[in-house]
Amino acid sequence: MKVGFLGTGQVARQLGALADAVGFGDLIVLGIPYAACAQTLPPLAVRLRGKVVVDATNPLNPDWSPLVLPRGRSGAEEIAALVPGASVVKAFNTVFADTMTPAGLDRGGAKVTTFIASDDQTACELVARFATSLGFHPRVAGPLKHAAYLEGLAHLNIHIAMHEGAGTDVAVVYSERGASPDRPAGEPGLSMKAWATAWGRGDAAGVAACCAPDAVLMHPAKPAVVSRAAIEQFLAGGVGKLHVTFEPAAVVGSGSPRFEFGRFADRDPVSGHEVATGTYSAAWVREGEQWLIRFHGWTNAAL
Ligand SMILES: NC(=O)c1ccc[n+]([C@@H]2O[C@H](COP(=O)([O-])OP(=O)(O)OC[C@H]3O[C@@H](n4cnc5c(N)ncnc54)[C@H](OP(=O)(O)O)[C@@H]3O)[C@@H](O)[C@H]2O)c1
Repeated sequence: MKVGFLGTGQVARQLGALADAVGFGDLIVLGIPYAACAQTLPPLAVRLRGKVVVDATNPLNPDWSPLVLPRGRSGAEEIAALVPGASVVKAFNTVFADTMTPAGLDRGGAKVTTFIASDDQTACELVARFATSLGFHPRVAGPLKHAAYLEGLAHLNIHIAMHEGAGTDVAVVYSERGASPDRPAGEPGLSMKAWATAWGRGDAAGVAACCAPDAVLMHPAKPAVVSRAAIEQFLAGGVGKLHVTFEPAAVVGSGSPRFEFGRFADRDPVSGHEVATGTYSAAWVREGEQWLIRFHGWTNAAL
């Protein structure tokens, strides 16, 4: 596998040095000024077809102020239009080149976050794995149109660095309570946590909303419950009576569906005592920007 870089500037050099260390590849990283893309990319468009193009650029004026784009789109969407057939992934644009070193990416034990946005889920995951291998914490942030937010974040970073005295040894560390450092890179936040949160609130509709319309619930001692509506009805009387926590052991698969499995514990919300434990598994499907439970089954040692 190979990583290609367009540009030999700070970003290309820093990411290149990190990439050399891990020998990753099959990506083309744009490390040139945004303003140069309209001229540089069209002649390369045929060769970039089918490739994953990592857009690390920020639309900037020469004085580093935000460049306002025509049509109100993000720079990444404009770049995607220049390379039809390529999978454009926005990433690394919110990280200063000065911090793209092993020491710079380590912020007291937490890793610097690179947000990742793309319409191509598989490309997103590839870039997330690439970012992890370089020492970043990748956080998938949705479709390519969300690159506008990431470019806005970069503008904020640049402003604070240049005009509010922070300098460039600063970085965003996105902290998610409950996220596991072992969660696979690029993993779009799968876990039964949303389900458990809704359950804990006694919100049967919220629990059902985590399920796909044709979801299947396999209770260890009852017949299978099929469909979101039936699941809501089935759960209505019981939600909130126990607090359920999930400890995912792994999420496997790339793309949709994904399979999550691990252990769960039920606790009495009043006494805090554990009343049941077991193993669970869940299959997730992606619908638009959402991941929904397609199947959820569990064992219960107490039954
Ligand atoms: N520096 C950062 O902290 C940082 C952080 C995140 C994202 N970014 C973004 O990453 C990109 C690269 O930034 P950088 O700091 O690495 O810039 P840089 O150090 O100035 O390097 C820019 C690279 O682009 C090439 N280049 C310049 N004008 C060009 C043109 N008209 N056509 C083709 N190539 C051209 C340069 O080649 P020559 O040397 O031959 O001119 C150089 O290889 C920019 O879009 C920037 O906004 C930068």
